[in-house]
Amino acid sequence: MLVLITMVNIITANAGSIPDAAAILRQGGLVAFPTETVYGLGANALDGQAVARIFAAKGRPQFNPLIVHVADIRMAAPFVEMNDRARALAAQFWPGPLTMILPRLSSCPVSDLCSAGLPTLAIRVPAHKTAQQLLKECGFPLAAPSANLSGHLSPTTPAHVAESLGDKVDMILAAGACNVGLESTILDMSTDQPAILRAGAIDAQQIADILGQDVRYEIEAIDQKTEKPKSPGQLLRHYAPGISVRLNAIDLEAGEALLAFGTDKFMGIKGGGSAKNLPDTARRNLSENSDLTEAAANLFRMLHDLDRPEHKAIAIMAIPEKGLGIAINERLKRAENATK
Ligand code: TXA
Ligand code: MG
Repeated sequence: MLVLITMVNIITANAGSIPDAAAILRQGGLVAFPTETVYGLGANALDGQAVARIFAAKGRPQFNPLIVHVADIRMAAPFVEMNDRARALAAQFWPGPLTMILPRLSSCPVSDLCSAGLPTLAIRVPAHKTAQQLLKECGFPLAAPSANLSGHLSPTTPAHVAESLGDKVDMILAAGACNVGLESTILDMSTDQPAILRAGAIDAQQIADILGQDVRYEIEAIDQKTEKPKSPGQLLRHYAPGISVRLNAIDLEAGEALLAFGTDKFMGIKGGGSAKNLPDTARRNLSENSDLTEAAANLFRMLHDLDRPEHKAIAIMAIPEKGLGIAINERLKRAENATK
């Protein structure tokens, strides 16, 4: 006989449990919730550390950008630039299985871990009643990839979520099977030429009919095991700093900015001086306590802060190659290669 002993918190979604789920999310926890496509692994998108926990729970060794879920188009207004064409698509297909990639507003408060440092944000308004109720109860946006471990199939039932993520999620809000069963269509509306980056229930013709404009497919082949693009960097653009990046720094060259991890008190500058006397614009610390979740939450914002033409380079202290450190290092290596 098979006995399953797990600590999985599967709770039926109703008027009593939805406020509990919202409270967990407000405190920075993770809640798996149903959408009409697949179950999502949700976190408060305004809370960088909560978003970092998504990557830790999925065991995804890479920071791919995440879809940000909102209850309606009004809730998206403070986050992204909506032109008339995007508004026409929203009027037709939201709520529903269409995700739009739009330019972030400069005042956008969503964690830039959701954008993986890119100037765009993926926004979706799910139609599922439970997702709608949860988003309204929260009042803040939810970052949510599919609620499965990296390399597992996307979950369409609460049992799938429990099998894949188990106790890595604080609550699974259960409302039966998802009826679409296929992830949302991802449409890049951040340029003049709309492009479908992932096929879903809404196709190019339906979108073209609303826009009165051709819509092309730019589908990236994704490796099912690693969730990484088979042709890396071909279609999904990656954030790269404008100045060069130097990894595993143990001291500084004159003119370099410092991205520290842990204490930088004893770090010297070649030719004289100490890192602690650098001007504020040239010194950031991913986490003084060497906390990888905090470091992940700060990564893209701090790289952006230090990416200034007056700096010769960004010197980055070593990050341990474990847990979220693996994803941080993957992204830093990419930045190093892009600026070599
Ligand atoms: O149906 C769905 O879309 C489900 C439910 C939970 O909403 N979510 C989902 O999320 O499938 P995820 O993380 O498994 O897939 C999100 C995809 C990734 O391939 C990611 O690269 C892409 O969206 N994406 C997100 N933001 C992007 C951006 N700013 N630019 C380009 N691609 C982006
Ligand atoms: Mg997925």
